[in-house]
Amino acid sequence: MKIDVLTIFPEFFGAVFDFGIIRRAKLAGIVGVQVHDIREYAIDKHKMTDDRPFGGGDGMVMKPEPIFAAIENLVGTSNRDAYPKGTRVVLLSPQGRQLKQNVAKEFADDATHIVMICGRYEGVDERVNEALVTDEISIGDYVLSGGEPAAIVVADSIIRLLPDALGSETSAVNDSFSDGLLDCPHYTRPAEFRGMKVPEVLLNGNHAEIEKWRSIMALEKTRAVRPDLLNNENGECGS
Ligand code: ADE
Repeated sequence: MKIDVLTIFPEFFGAVFDFGIIRRAKLAGIVGVQVHDIREYAIDKHKMTDDRPFGGGDGMVMKPEPIFAAIENLVGTSNRDAYPKGTRVVLLSPQGRQLKQNVAKEFADDATHIVMICGRYEGVDERVNEALVTDEISIGDYVLSGGEPAAIVVADSIIRLLPDALGSETSAVNDSFSDGLLDCPHYTRPAEFRGMKVPEVLLNGNHAEIEKWRSIMALEKTRAVRPDLLNNENGECGS
């Protein structure tokens, strides 16, 4: 999979894709991640990427021209209907479809090239959305200063689901949300720490008992913290 990130703050990403699972996936050739400065595609001599909104109002709006040029360069066309198969152009914005585990899974399964556009200011000229974007994605019901942190979240959630990205095949299967529930608690050594004991069931080596305990704990945790997931009829969290 190839991931391209379009931003006016390329430095923001620093070494964020150079650690842990993402780094390993990159080294193994499972994913390639590149960050691009939208400013490099600006057409005027001041390299402007934003302008005042038509109709007045606060803030600035990101101009369409540099973003269209960047998509033409990275995808080969700005005609959404002519994108190569497996291409997804994602606009990160609070107005988008909310990222859930099943959304990440859908990208991991179907996409081969993802271009993420990080919005800033009051927004992005709507013609970008109309003509270029295949998926407008929000990471939650709150407003960030820009799409950059959201792009990192979206990329991470997808990359770890790519085949062979995780060391153990079962790790992602057991993640929170992959079965519509939160994950169960985990413990490591020592078996007793500052008077707090690891549940006995985990120490006795009875794997059927351990699995049963884990299922019960996952259900209890979900009921206590996210009861909405238990009433979720449209499978939003499940894969
Ligand atoms: N940009 C600003 N807020 C955002 C959010 N919640 N999700 C994605 N992109 C955003």
